[in-house]
Amino acid sequence: MAKTYRVAALPGEGIGPEVVEATLEILHGLAGMHGFAIAPQFALIGPPAFAATGHYLPDETLAICEQSDGILFGAVSKGGLLELRKHFDLFINLRPVRPSRHLYHTSPLRPELLEGVDLLFVRELASGIYFGASGRSTDAQGDYGFHTMQYHDWEVRRIARVALELAQKRRGKLTVAHKENALPHLPWTALTQEVAQDFPDVIVEPMLVDNLAMQLVMRPQEFDVVLAGNLFGDILSDLGGAIAGSIGMLGSASLNAKGFGLYEPIHGTAPDIAGKGIANPMGTLASAALMLEQWGEIVAAQHLQSAQEQLLAEGYRTADLASQGGDRYPSTREFIDRLVQKIEAVR
Ligand code: IPM
Ligand code: MN
Repeated sequence: MAKTYRVAALPGEGIGPEVVEATLEILHGLAGMHGFAIAPQFALIGPPAFAATGHYLPDETLAICEQSDGILFGAVSKGGLLELRKHFDLFINLRPVRPSRHLYHTSPLRPELLEGVDLLFVRELASGIYFGASGRSTDAQGDYGFHTMQYHDWEVRRIARVALELAQKRRGKLTVAHKENALPHLPWTALTQEVAQDFPDVIVEPMLVDNLAMQLVMRPQEFDVVLAGNLFGDILSDLGGAIAGSIGMLGSASLNAKGFGLYEPIHGTAPDIAGKGIANPMGTLASAALMLEQWGEIVAAQHLQSAQEQLLAEGYRTADLASQGGDRYPSTREFIDRLVQKIEAVR
């Protein structure tokens, strides 16, 4: 019996349903060729879930996710996603940035700065300012709001250990984003250096996050793994989207300590193009490739990536990558049809 992976499919809203549907089609094709099967179960999240059930993250959706081998997520404009991350303790957020050489001309950076760029953002995803004490209140000066950036030392240490392990398997360099000149009670540098005692072969380079944002634009080739807290990682990884030519290219894996994960493109719902059939499926495909890797289906993941790379080499891309004469901008449908053909051709 072929192994069957149960996928909780959470399309969400905006372009989410379009890119999730496209990706499931590709996953089915790959599964047939690599001796496994995909069994998707669809579930509601975000505003569509609220409209149907009165909850952004209905219990039924949680049950489907709990019984799955991975969650394939589209996009939501609000509601449900942070709760889902917290529920499964998905504290590891991996956001790789490897610009395709066929898309160098769509990036605002010069091609010579992009050659060989291979970045991995490791973002803490289950704590920090997203989950700290927050509220609105009133004092003598009037109404005010607050969100608290709170990290237990163990939360920093556990994500630092993951980042160090990944750096050790890659090029052995870990840059730690921090803001200790203004936020000295969040000592990311010292805590990471402590854990790094177990990784003598990894070079740890602490960098103030504002300077890091600038350095990533000026010399992206010199970075390997970048470790950041929840908010800084969110901001820096969008910068990665610009490096790659479009945020539509980037995928992510959000994992817990057991290796269970949620896989989602980094882009949002893109309401301006939703329903037009022109959404870029490559961010969700990149996420699906990370899901395949996490399952150990490495060959299928490589197959997907090399087929996509060949399609890009022939000039096919979606409209978000519009730049030059000679590029071809097919609909999501046509792009997927061509990708299916490529996958069959390179088998
Ligand atoms: C992301 C998104 C989310 C985040 C939003 C939708 C809450 O921007 O995954 O990068 O900030 O984490
Ligand atoms: Mn973001």
